[in-house]
Amino acid sequence: MKTSIFTGAAVLASFSSGVAAQGGAWAQCGGQGWSGATTCVAGYTCTFVNNWYSQCLPGGAASTFTTTSTAVIRPTTTLVTLSTSRTSSAAVPTQTAGGKFKWFGVNEAGGEFGQDTYPGVWGKHFIFPDNNAVRTLINQGYNTFRVGFAMERLSQNGLTNGFDAAYLRNLTESINFITNAGAYAVLDPHNFGRYFGNIITDVDAFGTWWNNLAKHFLLNERVIFDTNNEYHTMSQDLVLRLNQAAIDGIRSAGATSQYIFVEGNSWSGAWTWNTTNHNLRELRDSVEGKLVYQMHQYLDSDGSGTNPNCVSGEIGVQRVVGATRWLRENGKVGILGEFAGGANSVCQTAVKGLLEHLKANSDVWHGALWWSAGPWWGDYMFSFEPPSGTGYVNYNGVLRQYL
Ligand SMILES: *[C@@H]1O[C@H](CO)[C@@H](O)[C@H](O)[C@H]1NC(C)=O
Ligand SMILES: *[C@@H]1O[C@H](CO)[C@@H](O)[C@H](O)[C@H]1NC(C)=O
Repeated sequence: MKTSIFTGAAVLASFSSGVAAQGGAWAQCGGQGWSGATTCVAGYTCTFVNNWYSQCLPGGAASTFTTTSTAVIRPTTTLVTLSTSRTSSAAVPTQTAGGKFKWFGVNEAGGEFGQDTYPGVWGKHFIFPDNNAVRTLINQGYNTFRVGFAMERLSQNGLTNGFDAAYLRNLTESINFITNAGAYAVLDPHNFGRYFGNIITDVDAFGTWWNNLAKHFLLNERVIFDTNNEYHTMSQDLVLRLNQAAIDGIRSAGATSQYIFVEGNSWSGAWTWNTTNHNLRELRDSVEGKLVYQMHQYLDSDGSGTNPNCVSGEIGVQRVVGATRWLRENGKVGILGEFAGGANSVCQTAVKGLLEHLKANSDVWHGALWWSAGPWWGDYMFSFEPPSGTGYVNYNGVLRQYL
């Protein structure tokens, strides 16, 4: 989103109080500082995830991924359809016919809320995703969740100093819940290329920040690193160098199995990508095939995503065709990391057209993420929070066709 439209907890979810004797399905059941139940309800086993987190997983730990992964994880080799650049047709399994995205899901906003209050108070200024809502979406086949957080809360005393343990722990729990359920979790520092309001100009410090963060997620292949949300109104060369520093910092931490999403200037807009962000073709990753260009696109007249009306039923396609061509001509792949439309038929047509275009070009477009789910959206026009978010009610049927 171009602007922060939400600065605090307008809607407070009701929390169940008291500690259950046994953890429910998917509940936390252990970890450093944990004082709640350490056993799980029937059918679930308390499973060690990391030092901060154990979780009630179905059956034993070993059965978890085999029972859920068929629904939500699609092996890389079966995902990309009919790339014209592929020379061996044998490399494309027959079951890919029809085109599937590798990543299809939603943003999860909340950890970055309260941008005028740092560090702020959990439950008042910011919140993390609601695991039950995430589970509801995963059960339907959504497999990617972009989790927003604030660098100022994680790094309260400068980019190269230590992380706040409690914020990191809560963020990690959200990430692990998603990845333990077999989905991808995108770490999204929702910072617009800024830290405490100032454009980040210390490129080395930014690389160090990413190096330190990547160390915490080294062993989790379903984590995706998103260098920063929506750089804007800053030097194009700086955007290139910040992205490169992030890539290098992540890889030198030893995180070599994960994908990295880079974003561009001008709010990472797809509609201006080919003129604004052309220099980002120069980004280099020491790991082959794991660098993905994340673009955003809204369909209202100024492209800001602040109006429920879309320009026309064709605007979705019109605004991304230039980016599609740019990706293909430069040998890159992309993901549409934010898109949405209001609850009206023009937007529904535009969103369907957009997704059909991305699907038809799934050699270069590997996924799309709706803006946005999250526990505090209330009646926000794009809310994809089940069961009653406006976007969820109006677009779940549309989006599910692309799972
Ligand atoms: C972390 O989450 C717990 C609830 O699980 C909450 O009590 C605590 O305040 C949170 N802390 C931060 C920094 O997010
Ligand atoms: C960028 O893409 C648009 C379509 O969105 C196209 O009209 C324009 O020619 C492209 N510009 C460049 C420099 O490729």
